Amino acid sequence: MKYLIANWKMHDVDLESWLKEFLSIEIPLSSLKIRVSSNLFDMSKFIEAMPIESEFLNKPFWMAQDVSQNIDGSHTGQISSKILKKLKTAGCIVGHSEVRESGDSNEIVHQKGIRLKEAEISPIVLCIGESLEILEKNERELFLINQLKSFFKNGLIPDIIAYEPIWAIGTGKSASIDSINNAFKIILKFLLDIDSKDIPILYGGSVSINNIEEILSINSISGCLVGNSSLDGEEFARIAAKF
Ligand code: PGA
Repeated sequence: MKYLIANWKMHDVDLESWLKEFLSIEIPLSSLKIRVSSNLFDMSKFIEAMPIESEFLNKPFWMAQDVSQNIDGSHTGQISSKILKKLKTAGCIVGHSEVRESGDSNEIVHQKGIRLKEAEISPIVLCIGESLEILEKNERELFLINQLKSFFKNGLIPDIIAYEPIWAIGTGKSASIDSINNAFKIILKFLLDIDSKDIPILYGGSVSINNIEEILSINSISGCLVGNSSLDGEEFARIAAKF
């Protein structure tokens, strides 16, 4: 099974034209799961109302971008896993570097994972990735293992891991194949050690139509998390067609 996840972040994507563009490209049938992570909470309703049938879009595919670590109560601006469940989210991202930047520690990311498990929201996509500073100090392995260990604490297991080096996100410069391979080896070794080697690993960071084929040639890659190149429905469908 392969995964392709669009990360629309806070971009105000016009759903109607995005879908038209997306559906204008034929995507060969494959075992690909497509999800769109967005703040547009009524997206699945919109898609149900779409007159055009699509192998990829006729299933629930809206995914949340974050969840509160709190169960319930007075937390203005936050959204609970219970509410996400009611909204029929088809999964949730946690630990994206842009969310970690605004204060999420490894512990908070872990708690968010617990909330999603409790609400039986799946897939839980755990994002990890180092900064350029850490990479240059040769501390990547330690950093990634620490992010993984903190999340996996007490038997918590994500459904998918997305490796997203911070220095490659939104920069137009994807990590080199060698660099991604090395990071994947670190992650795989960790997963092997805890008997969880089947967790799919995705890559994210300036994935585009120009580099998708090369990225998909990486051993043990199970798909991609795509930011900027997912905002254009046609480019995103062209990327999907390469799977
Ligand atoms: P990008 O974003 O594709 O624009 O680099 C990826 C992400 O943040 O998930």
